[in-house]
Amino acid sequence: MLAIINFKAYKSSTGINAIKLAKICERVAKKEKVQIAVAVQPADIFMVASNVKIPVLAQHVDPVEFGAKTGWILPETVLLAGAIGSLVNHSEHQLPMDYIKATIGRLQDLNALSIACASTPAKAVQIAKFKPDMIAIEPPELIGGNIAVSQAKPEVITKTTDKIRNIPVLCGAGIKRKADVSKSVKLGAKGILVASGVTNVADPERALTQLVKGLK
Ligand code: G3P
Repeated sequence: MLAIINFKAYKSSTGINAIKLAKICERVAKKEKVQIAVAVQPADIFMVASNVKIPVLAQHVDPVEFGAKTGWILPETVLLAGAIGSLVNHSEHQLPMDYIKATIGRLQDLNALSIACASTPAKAVQIAKFKPDMIAIEPPELIGGNIAVSQAKPEVITKTTDKIRNIPVLCGAGIKRKADVSKSVKLGAKGILVASGVTNVADPERALTQLVKGLK
């Protein structure tokens, strides 16, 4: 079971705040004996990875090679900075299928983790053909809200886990309570992808502790 905390580009989880929040995630992972990874902004990867021992992920990389690629995010760079892999095709950074395939391919070539996001079960099935390490199903309309995917659209999770049996499926969007997480697990998810329920709350340590208890 795994919880990925997506720091997005919130002020509360960027720069020095990214280190503070990552340390909280590390503390909770240790105390609750669960796997927690953080997905941070590219410029924060080195700083965060130098300060915590939990896995650090990029939020996006481009399928480019070393060379004249100004402004692109080279997979090698995020790995050298301390990330172990990347999210691919997050709902807020959706990519064409051939781009998703190429990005997963580059990460595979580098033995890096690829966690591919999909907005629907049908897209998840398409993306599964590229063999990412994990698939995260997230209905975009529930992202950032207060109603969890597992409560509002349980069928989105079950349709995905029914069809994808050889790749662990995570779910996300609107996850705010322990009950949202335990329901996700009951529906077949192997973990969660969460942002605002941890990044934008007054007491992230308390909120995350409650959430991960739902994974057990
Ligand atoms: O990547 C996680 C995400 O998109 C869900 O966001 O704020 O609904 O937990 P949130």
